[in-house]
Amino acid sequence: MIQPLEKLWPPFGLTIEYGPVTLSPVRDADLPELVALAQSGIHPPDQMPFFVPWTVGTPDEVRLRFLQFHWAQRAAMTPASWSLETVVRVDGVAVGCQGVSARDYPVTRTGETGSWLGAEHQGRGIGTLMRQAICAFMFDHLGAAEITSGAFLDNSASLAVSRKVGYRENGVTRMTRRGENLALNQRLVLTPEDLNRADHELRVEGVRPLRAFLGLTA
Ligand SMILES: CC(C)(COP(=O)(O)OP(=O)(O)OC[C@H]1O[C@@H](n2cnc3c(N)ncnc32)[C@H](O)[C@@H]1OP(=O)(O)O)[C@@H](O)C(=O)NCCC(=O)NCCS
Repeated sequence: MIQPLEKLWPPFGLTIEYGPVTLSPVRDADLPELVALAQSGIHPPDQMPFFVPWTVGTPDEVRLRFLQFHWAQRAAMTPASWSLETVVRVDGVAVGCQGVSARDYPVTRTGETGSWLGAEHQGRGIGTLMRQAICAFMFDHLGAAEITSGAFLDNSASLAVSRKVGYRENGVTRMTRRGENLALNQRLVLTPEDLNRADHELRVEGVRPLRAFLGLTA
């Protein structure tokens, strides 16, 4: 029997709707739009908000790195270690990605968030909404106990989003950036009771098969 891909690969069956934003795990059909968005720019060239500097280089280098990252994430997913990268859409248009990753999640119940928006879509409240959406989903549907994140101290926008969503500061780590300079990274942690929710209903489809796939009991 031939089955649709979302039956064969449960993450593809997930949809999270939160007011104007829709999040769904990145499929190959989303990649051309996302590559174009990433190539059109996410941050000024003299800044680097990411731990892994994947936005550096020529458009061809960004394209290859981006595609291989997304395929690698999927290929490596197991209940012990997973990363769910979602495409964020507003009115059907891809505006960026919201990810959450975890290790030994059935025991730790901890997810780490990371996200980006194309430059033209920043500063309109979308970054806050998509983070609220993934956190509400993790707490309400995957039983998370806490959600962590991190941002370099010079990333005001990301730190502002974390603060608005309710994350607390959780220490500062010393990291290298672009493999060269020392950069201080603010660690952040969010618990279910601290989540500031937007005034939208969280609508989710495809949770049950995803939970089974991630080794979570009903
Ligand atoms: C970080 C990011 C996802 C935030 O999304 P966004 O849609 O731009 O943020 P929002 O519009 O929801 O803004 C949230 C808050 O941040 C504030 N903010 C936004 N940009 C800011 C800036 N450059 N400096 C200070 N505050 C800023 C806003 O004023 C807003 O607070 P307010 O509502 O109290 O005014 C987005 O800017 C982005 O993709 N940046 C580049 C990639 C990146 O840094 N990813 C995170 C890596 S840790």
